[in-house]
Amino acid sequence: MHSSSPPPYPTDLSAIQALASADMSAVDALIRHRLASDVVLINQVAEYIVGAGGKRLRPMLLLLSAGALGHRGADAHQLAAVVEFIHTATLLHDDVVDQSDLRRGRRTANAVWGNAASVLVGDFLYSRSFQLMVELDRVEVMRILADTTNRIAEGEVLQLLHVRNPDVDEAAYLRVIERKTAVLFAAATRLGALLAGAGTATCDALHDYGLNLGYAFQIADDVLDYASDAQTMGKNLGDDLAEGKATLPLIHAMAHADDTVRARLRSAIEHGEAEALPEVVAAIQASGGLAYSRMRAEEYAQGARDALAGLADNAYVTALRGLADYAVSRDH
Ligand code: IPE
Ligand code: IPE
Ligand code: MG
Ligand code: MG
Repeated sequence: MHSSSPPPYPTDLSAIQALASADMSAVDALIRHRLASDVVLINQVAEYIVGAGGKRLRPMLLLLSAGALGHRGADAHQLAAVVEFIHTATLLHDDVVDQSDLRRGRRTANAVWGNAASVLVGDFLYSRSFQLMVELDRVEVMRILADTTNRIAEGEVLQLLHVRNPDVDEAAYLRVIERKTAVLFAAATRLGALLAGAGTATCDALHDYGLNLGYAFQIADDVLDYASDAQTMGKNLGDDLAEGKATLPLIHAMAHADDTVRARLRSAIEHGEAEALPEVVAAIQASGGLAYSRMRAEEYAQGARDALAGLADNAYVTALRGLADYAVSRDH
């Protein structure tokens, strides 16, 4: 009889992290080294948020995408640091805009140093990321990252326009999350392919993988905002409601609730009623809003897996597939 042997390739998160760990250590060292400024406050704020950890998912995606196509090296480390710097800059800005006071299990930088310091150090990290990318001296890389950061900024502004608007529908929500989250994932995976010297079709496939993964990841984040707890997430529960931000679980609940509940939910969004959280969670649950959102996230995760179909299988490709599972099953 045929006996099954253990899977040869990493599928769970710790095995995926182990596969990338040597490269990730190099990336972390580079991040620490290149954070430096002789302006003390910059070092304090930047060290504070970078030192709090974070999952380092975007740099890992870049390294795994390059690895999937047979490439590892200093250029990948450099661009992995670039995408993490960009991500960190957006978090500093995002917590000001969202008035959040917990991130990565710590008080946010804006809670400690104020909004002005957070915005300005975010700008420092953005521009530092551009210094790092220019060192590679490749126009295509600069074009991808310039376009991506510009789209992220559009996403954040678009989201601002939707604040306290109960008429935001699923299509409008998806337009926001594509820009604010998915395009950076797509840039990370495309850049990995580009560094590996892949042709257009393969670069596009990796882009497609990253984009789908980014949607799945953000929808999962929006579910956690109603379904997790601060201890596990390292962020406060209910931040989106407090901000008057209608995300998929709530959008679904509003489309399916009866008139009385719908009126109540509309008012909670219009007023950013943090106190209404238990009531809103109950309405979301009653409408199946969490289950629906998890299903939509899983559809995007499947889109991400499908995008990898044409690649020759190896440990890195398997790890990318594993991250599609992780994006939708994670608890923080
Ligand atoms: C947070 O991203 C912002 C979203 C896109 C939801 P992460 O969940 O990757 O944050 P860190 O880097 O691990 O803290
Ligand atoms: C993601 O949106 C924001 C960025 C892409 C920076 P959220 O506002 O949901 O992110 P968290 O929950 O604060 O990390
Ligand atoms: Mg936020
Ligand atoms: Mg969130």
